[in-house]
Amino acid sequence: MTVSAIGLGGMPMSIEGRPERSRSIATIHAALDAGVTLIDTADAYHAGADDVGHNETLIAEALSSYGGDTADVLVATKGGHLRPGDGSWTIDSSPEHLRSACEASLERLGVEAIGLYQLHRPDASGVPYEDSVGAIGDLVDAGKVRMAGISNADPAQIRTAHEVLGDRLVSVQNQYSPAYRSSAPELRLCQEMGLAFLPWSPLGGISRAADLGSSFAAFQEIADAHGVSPQQVTLAWLLATAPVVIPIPGSSRPETVRDSAQSVDLDLSTEELARLDQAS
Ligand SMILES: NC(=O)c1ccc[n+]([C@@H]2O[C@H](COP(=O)([O-])OP(=O)(O)OC[C@H]3O[C@@H](n4cnc5c(N)ncnc54)[C@H](OP(=O)(O)O)[C@@H]3O)[C@@H](O)[C@H]2O)c1
Repeated sequence: MTVSAIGLGGMPMSIEGRPERSRSIATIHAALDAGVTLIDTADAYHAGADDVGHNETLIAEALSSYGGDTADVLVATKGGHLRPGDGSWTIDSSPEHLRSACEASLERLGVEAIGLYQLHRPDASGVPYEDSVGAIGDLVDAGKVRMAGISNADPAQIRTAHEVLGDRLVSVQNQYSPAYRSSAPELRLCQEMGLAFLPWSPLGGISRAADLGSSFAAFQEIADAHGVSPQQVTLAWLLATAPVVIPIPGSSRPETVRDSAQSVDLDLSTEELARLDQAS
């Protein structure tokens, strides 16, 4: 399946500090207008214990109220995290939980099969990783999920998931940004294995994205030279890292989503890319 080079991360529209629903719908519509065809979400993108799946419901609503064609849009959701409502994130990646979480996501998204279902995080409480990814594979085989992905996985876990899932595994989603580059081995492994690599918090995360230029002078200086935002430079730099990279910047405003989508048109020179590679 082919998706846009830049996706949309849905988390800022649904966790603590989220905007009004109408602004979020306008943000998702702006992404679709800009040609974005990958929307990343999770059942755990909500705030209170009573609004589990807030982001999935929002995306389903935005897709159904959009005037244009959405047949090519891939909604990628996740299971395995829970939010009890006190601000914390807990984990349950047991096969039983993943099966019921998938059913609930199917219902909220209003689809017969989820396009891409990602294991949100390995479960350190004793659930073998093979069992968690195996459960996602069973969901693919049952026709409830079309493609399988994993998230927050180390190289050994990527290899394990690939052994269990084979070609059903298509993507890995790990944290990667100018501030956080320790997923480089996983990124390179994805390139070797032909798996999509979706960097999460590519701009440094919701609370730090606005300060990207002041935190990383090279990104600001190269942005100034091109007359674009440092966030756009960051996304263009990530795209240049490897052909398998599909950044999923989060947005809660149409302006930021439009700006991010334009990063595909920003050409950075070899010298600029080398400088950004070294920038800290
Ligand atoms: N798998 C995991 O464990 C995991 C963990 C975290 C996140 N994620 C996923 O990754 C996505 C991205 O991560 P994130 O949302 O945490 O952080 P992020 O993408 O690094 O930063 C999000 C913030 O960047 C701002 N922004 C976006 N584009 C911009 C632009 N062109 N110029 C200026 N500001 C811009 C947005 O501001 P506005 O709100 O003002 O638009 C947004 O609040 C999430 O939404 C989620 O889908 C996955």
